[in-house]
Amino acid sequence: MRIVIAKDYEDMSVRAAMIVAGQVCLKPASVLGLATGSTPLLMYKKLIRMHCQAGLDFSEALTFNLDEYLGLSSSDEHSYHWYMNHNFFNHVNVQRENIHIPDGMAQDIERECREYDRKILGCGGIDLQILGIGTNGHIGFNEPDIKFEATTHKVKLDLETVTANSRFFADFNDVPRYAISMGIKTIMHAKKILLLANGENKADAIYRAIYGGITPEIPASILQLHQDVTVIIEQSAAKDIR
Ligand code: F6R
Repeated sequence: MRIVIAKDYEDMSVRAAMIVAGQVCLKPASVLGLATGSTPLLMYKKLIRMHCQAGLDFSEALTFNLDEYLGLSSSDEHSYHWYMNHNFFNHVNVQRENIHIPDGMAQDIERECREYDRKILGCGGIDLQILGIGTNGHIGFNEPDIKFEATTHKVKLDLETVTANSRFFADFNDVPRYAISMGIKTIMHAKKILLLANGENKADAIYRAIYGGITPEIPASILQLHQDVTVIIEQSAAKDIR
């Protein structure tokens, strides 16, 4: 594991964007695993700027998002489809047919999950997976006590996650309780992983993920067993790491 402590959110985001840009430059047809949430927002902005000002080319890249809420259509502004379109895809030249996000409105969820894993495998697997981390140590929406061997599946979100996500919703009752998420096994099959953490509220989770025991109680701790992980931690999230 390479651990980088960034001096602030800007620094974390620039470093993350440089790694993604390097991946796409070296292999234009890279398969990128993408995350949503607050953490990668500025990284996406930096990538958009690299695209607009320096010609960073995503035209051959393929993308697979980690997760999507169940029951939200792609036009719902709380959906991760909406998030990705507005915060990244609408501003770069990723081809629409190369974008993959689980369908939160799928009639047959089991089938949707199987198909999602099949498509990832069909593209040769994920080259670079971007991850954020939940305050409870989740990655994707793999909540504590998840099975490490899970592939893409339906998950019930923990109350801690629902509460954290409620900041984006007017009414707590509107926050989805279920999602489709890549499983730990899907994530661990990525060739490279980039884990990002910012904010003091992530300090405990990131510390336990990196230095604690490998346990389903902290799903991110499994990353200690991956051969190519870079963790970029903004200073306040790294307060316990010295
Ligand atoms: C998002 C995802 C989640 C988030 C995590 C942190 O696609 O899979 O694991 O990365 O919940 O969220 P933020 O960045 O909002 O703190």
